[in-house]
Amino acid sequence: MTDDELRDRAVAVLTTNHRDGYTVPAIGLYPYQWCWDSGPIALGWAAAGRWDHAWSELRRLLSAQWPSGMVPHIVFWTVGDSYFPGPAVWATGREPATTGLTQPPLPVSAAARLFAADPDRDRAQSEFGGLWPKLLAWLSWIERARTGPHGAGVVVHPWESGMDNSPSWDEPLAATPSATDEHIERRDVASVAAAERPSQKEYRHYLGIVEALRAAGWDTERQPADSPFAVEDPAFTAIAARAAADLASGGEAAGFDPREPARLAEGALAGLEALWDDALGWYRPYDTRAGRFAGPVTSSGLVAIWAGIRDERVARMVSRVDSWRRTLPCSVPTTDPADPSFDPIRYWRGPVWVLVNWLVADGFNRAGLTDRAAQLRSDTHAFVTQGFSEYYDPRNRAGIGGHGFSWSAALTLDWLLA
Ligand code: GLC
Repeated sequence: MTDDELRDRAVAVLTTNHRDGYTVPAIGLYPYQWCWDSGPIALGWAAAGRWDHAWSELRRLLSAQWPSGMVPHIVFWTVGDSYFPGPAVWATGREPATTGLTQPPLPVSAAARLFAADPDRDRAQSEFGGLWPKLLAWLSWIERARTGPHGAGVVVHPWESGMDNSPSWDEPLAATPSATDEHIERRDVASVAAAERPSQKEYRHYLGIVEALRAAGWDTERQPADSPFAVEDPAFTAIAARAAADLASGGEAAGFDPREPARLAEGALAGLEALWDDALGWYRPYDTRAGRFAGPVTSSGLVAIWAGIRDERVARMVSRVDSWRRTLPCSVPTTDPADPSFDPIRYWRGPVWVLVNWLVADGFNRAGLTDRAAQLRSDTHAFVTQGFSEYYDPRNRAGIGGHGFSWSAALTLDWLLA
C-alpha cells in the first residue's frame, strides 16, 4: 500500500468517527468522547491539515471540565443506550453528562504540540490561550487530588489508567467489592469477541468501585480516600509529568508564566522515580490500600519512558523489550510474555496498542535510541496497513478488538506518515 492510500484510509476513519466538534474512538463500541483519546485524535486532525477539528476536539473536551479542575474520562454528548455503563449508572449530575473519573492528561501535551505547529499563529495564540487556564487547572487538580504516598499519580479506578484490565490491577481490584453476582448485560461483547475483552468478574468489580464513588457523592477532591481502589500508576504519572513540562514550554512561548506547570512537572517526575523497582528493572504500580508494589512487568511501567527518565533505567527496560522481540515477531506487548497473566488477545493483557508504541518510540528517540524507535515505527506501520484496529495480536499481527479505531488512524497520520 502506498503512503497516499494509507493516509486516505486514516483520514476516512477519522471523518467517519467525527461528530459535532469531537471524534468518537470507534463507532458502536465507544460512541462518546473519551478523554485521553482526544489527545492523539487532535494530533491526527492537525496532521491531516484539519486544524479546525484539531482545536475543537480539545475545546469540546475541556468544556466538560468540572469546577474542581477534573476532566472527565467520558463525555456523553448525546443521549443513547448503546453503551454500558451509561449516564444513569454514573449519575454524576453534570450537564453535559459525564463519568466521575479522569484519564491520563495526554490532551495537555497535544495542546502544546498544536500550539507549536499551527501555521496560523493568531489562531494558535487564541486557541491555546483559551485552553491554558483549564489545562493548568486540570494538572493542579491532579497534584492536589491524585497524589499518592510516593508523590506519584494515583488512579482510583482501573478505567482511570486507560489500561483497563492490565494485570497491574489484578491484586488491588480483587480486594474491591463486587457490584453484583448477576450476569452484567454489557454492550462491548456484542461487537467484539468476549475473549478479547475484560471478564465478567472484572466488570463486577469495576462497577463496585463506581458504586462506592457514587455513594460518596463524586467528591473529586477526596476520591483516593473514598475509593476501594487507589493505586499509584507509573504511566499516569509519566503522562502527567510530561504534560506539565509540555505546558510549561508551550506557555512560555505563548507569553504565560511557566513556573507553576514547571513545578508540577518536577513533582510528578520525582513521584515517578519513586516507583522504580531496582530488583526488577522496571517501574511498578504501588497499591496504596495494601501498602505494597503490585503486579508483573507491564506497559504501565514502560510508558515511564515518555516522561524522560535516566539513561541507565531506559537501558534496563530496553534490554527486556529486546528479549521479547526475539521471541515475538513484533513489539511491544502490553504484558511480559513470560508472565502467567500474559494473554495475547485480551485487551491490555498482552496485545500491542498503537498508542503505547507511539509513547515508547518517542521515549526511545528522546533517549537517543533512534534504532529502537525506528523498529517500533516499522512494526506499527505493518499493523495499520492491515486496518486501524484497536489492538493487535503480538504472535501474528492480527488486528483485534474494535475496528475503525480513531487513535490508530490518528497516530498513523501524526507519526507513521510524518
Ligand atoms: C478502552 C480503553 C481506554 C480508551 C477507551 C476508548 O476503555 O481501555 O484506554 O480510552 O477504550 O478508546
